[in-house]
Amino acid sequence: MKGIVLSGGSGTRLYPITKSFTKQLLPIYDKPMIYYPISVLLLAGISDILIITTPDDVHLYKKLLGDGSQLGVRFSYKVQEQPKGIAQAFLVGADFIGDDNVCLVLGDNIFHGSSLVDRLKEAVDNKKGATIFGYPVKNPREFGVAEFDENGKVIEIVEKPENPKSNFAVPGLYFYDNKVIEIASGITPSYRGELEITSVNNEYIRRGELNIVRFGRGMAWLDTGTPTGMLKAAEYVETVQERQGYYIACLEEIAWRSGFIDTDQLIRLGSVLKKTDYGQYILSLANNIDGGK
Ligand code: DAU
Repeated sequence: MKGIVLSGGSGTRLYPITKSFTKQLLPIYDKPMIYYPISVLLLAGISDILIITTPDDVHLYKKLLGDGSQLGVRFSYKVQEQPKGIAQAFLVGADFIGDDNVCLVLGDNIFHGSSLVDRLKEAVDNKKGATIFGYPVKNPREFGVAEFDENGKVIEIVEKPENPKSNFAVPGLYFYDNKVIEIASGITPSYRGELEITSVNNEYIRRGELNIVRFGRGMAWLDTGTPTGMLKAAEYVETVQERQGYYIACLEEIAWRSGFIDTDQLIRLGSVLKKTDYGQYILSLANNIDGGK
């Protein structure tokens, strides 16, 4: 399965912070925002990853992440000329996807929780159709929202509904079979001129091939859409890391635990960052091999 991180957009909701800088490289506590969605792909076992961003910003992502070989994975890059919708990722990324299935994660979505890896593996194993997620929120109007029938079966996803039919928002993490390219090619732009991911999901519902998995209470899906959301997300990361001593979205750790890199490479990566707590954490993993590997 291939992975795509969609990391473009204009970031206008965070102006003036994002007037001259890409949102998804802003820090969430001690690491760039995009580390969090990349960590989700790595945790799903996906190591061939396309990063889609804007023409102005692509060089920044390349500088940060390189070709991925340092982590034993592959990062490639494509630009989305204009933010014409999330579903455009499958058209921009069509050659990259080839004949494979694909997972799309939005570059500003943060997930954390003990059941996450199991849910990801199940979604990867589900080879036919689409798997998306439902997450209970207090403010469903701001998201794509799932509507269910009396048997709990999803009947429609509505983008930013005035009158939400449930409190289950659809997070920016989507697993699709290869038909997604054809489906994304066939949808028409919405009233806001965008190829909506919700239109793709509704086409899968129409075909009877959409599986929605509800995230339970133990999962965190954090908002980074506003300065307050970013601050709260940073506080969450800091609290968990300080309390447990385990890092959230340490890409080097995940690559090592996944077997993409060996301990020597982990030490090399940690050494470069050794002036920081992040680097020291990486080095501590290498010195403590029984720490859960
Ligand atoms: O965060 C989950 C929500 O993301 C879903 O519940 C909604 O169904 C989905 O439409 C989306 O809603 P947003 O209003 O948050 O979408 P936004 O336009 O802010 O874009 C989300 C991210 O994707 C953002 O970081 C920018 C990036 N993006 C967006 C568009 C439209 C692109 O890179 N290119 C684009 O063309």
